[in-house]
Amino acid sequence: MQLRHAAAAAAVVLSLSLFLLPSTTNAHNITRILAKYPEFSTFSHYLTLTQLAPEINRRETITVCAVDNAAMSDLLSKHLTIGAIKNVLSLHVLLDYFDSKKLHQITDGTALAATMFQATGSASGSAGFVNITDLKGGKVGFSPQDNGGHVDAATFVKPVEGIPYNISVIQISSILPSPEAEAPAPGPSQMNITALMTAHGCKVFAETLLANPAKQTFEDNVESGLTIFCPGDDAMKSFMPKYKNLTASGKQSLLEFHAIPIYQSLSGLKSSNGLMNTLATDGASKYDFTVQNDGTEVTIMTKIVTAKIINTLIDEQPVAIYELNKVLMPKELFKGAISPAPAPAPEADAPKSSKKKHRSPPAPAAPSDSPADAPDGDVADQTADSNGAVRFDGARFGALILSVWFVVLLL
Ligand SMILES: *[C@@H]1O[C@H](CO)[C@@H](O)[C@H](O)[C@H]1NC(C)=O
Ligand SMILES: *[C@@H]1O[C@H](CO)[C@@H](O)[C@H](O)[C@H]1NC(C)=O
Ligand SMILES: *[C@@H]1O[C@H](CO)[C@@H](O)[C@H](O)[C@H]1NC(C)=O
Ligand SMILES: *[C@@H]1O[C@H](CO)[C@@H](O)[C@H](O)[C@H]1NC(C)=O
Ligand SMILES: *[C@@H]1O[C@H](CO)[C@@H](O)[C@H](O)[C@H]1NC(C)=O
Repeated sequence: MQLRHAAAAAAVVLSLSLFLLPSTTNAHNITRILAKYPEFSTFSHYLTLTQLAPEINRRETITVCAVDNAAMSDLLSKHLTIGAIKNVLSLHVLLDYFDSKKLHQITDGTALAATMFQATGSASGSAGFVNITDLKGGKVGFSPQDNGGHVDAATFVKPVEGIPYNISVIQISSILPSPEAEAPAPGPSQMNITALMTAHGCKVFAETLLANPAKQTFEDNVESGLTIFCPGDDAMKSFMPKYKNLTASGKQSLLEFHAIPIYQSLSGLKSSNGLMNTLATDGASKYDFTVQNDGTEVTIMTKIVTAKIINTLIDEQPVAIYELNKVLMPKELFKGAISPAPAPAPEADAPKSSKKKHRSPPAPAAPSDSPADAPDGDVADQTADSNGAVRFDGARFGALILSVWFVVLLL
């Protein structure tokens, strides 16, 4: 018994210490790569401004087709909206690794590359694919596929930098012309969120939502800002037996638990750690979750599951939709699934949930463990939840969940 306790304590220490170690991920950083080349400073600036940079950093096996400052001023002289500039630049991120060698050895001399424009949101049909053609004389042409058969809208200039096979940065001669990418993005009221989810890997969630009153709650929030975390099809399919077991109001709350009534870009999520209210939050029913990130990955934690963002479906203010690898299970609906903890399990302190349903902004990031930052109110709740134990911030709370699991496994 003593041995078990020692092992359990060791597990707690071990998992806590994992959180204290510096992150050792050596993911690429497009801003840092381009910072060495002043001729790409405008391009780089706009990757940051349009929030494409964190999306590029998150992906592997990609090619960024950079253009110099002169080509960027041609684009900027069109006075497009920032949303349209984002679409145009996302057409310059190919979802495959092409370095100089691979470009000159394309099978049959031509290839079609999917782009970030095609992979996220608004592109229709074949728009968003780039035709790469090995031209005579060693030239390589790039052209959006919907460019009327012209193959050299832009040409390969030089390789810039590459980390095989994670990211290749190359220079092309000019901006790829695409009327569809340059068109102003449709207003939020024209946005069909279920169609977007259906087209990009969250079909089961979209269909479930369409058959539930929660659909209206989602739609009511589109104009004022909405971020949806939709579980991917595999995750949602395996969850369906549990979903069918819920009551009608449980089903609605579960679906509404997958969105927050505010627009959050990926970089916004990356810089916010802490509790957030959801569309299901309503007075006494907290239905909140914790957003947590380690600089590269963004995870969403409930007391029962930790899911991570694996894709961005769309990110156009005021709407963002991200795909999760798991269904978020709120403790309010799945109490039975929480393992009885041998040690007191303190709850992260939450600013009190707003009573206003569906309009309330999410709670700000959880305060650090300085008591001075403690939100007022909710005292009875806090005392009941925390069993007089120490205060925990998001990261340590995550570690604690892990630790509790360890302990449960060991006992
Ligand atoms: C490529 O990316 C993966 C995942 O981010 C990373 O583990 C690996 O070290 C990277 N490779 C190089 C050569 O940087
Ligand atoms: C990427 O590099 C830029 C410039 O060096 C830096 O400001 C930014 O914080 C870095 N981003 C990440 C996610 O490390
Ligand atoms: C690229 O465009 C050219 C000209 O329209 C066409 O002949 C070629 O088949 C296209 N390549 C691919 C892979 O579709
Ligand atoms: C939105 O798309 C769904 C398919 O996912 C469709 O059933 C619905 O009719 C569309 N709504 C509108 C307003 O077009
Ligand atoms: C459905 O609920 C019943 C009764 O609460 C339970 O025994 C069963 O395991 C549940 N099934 C699933 C798939 O959760």
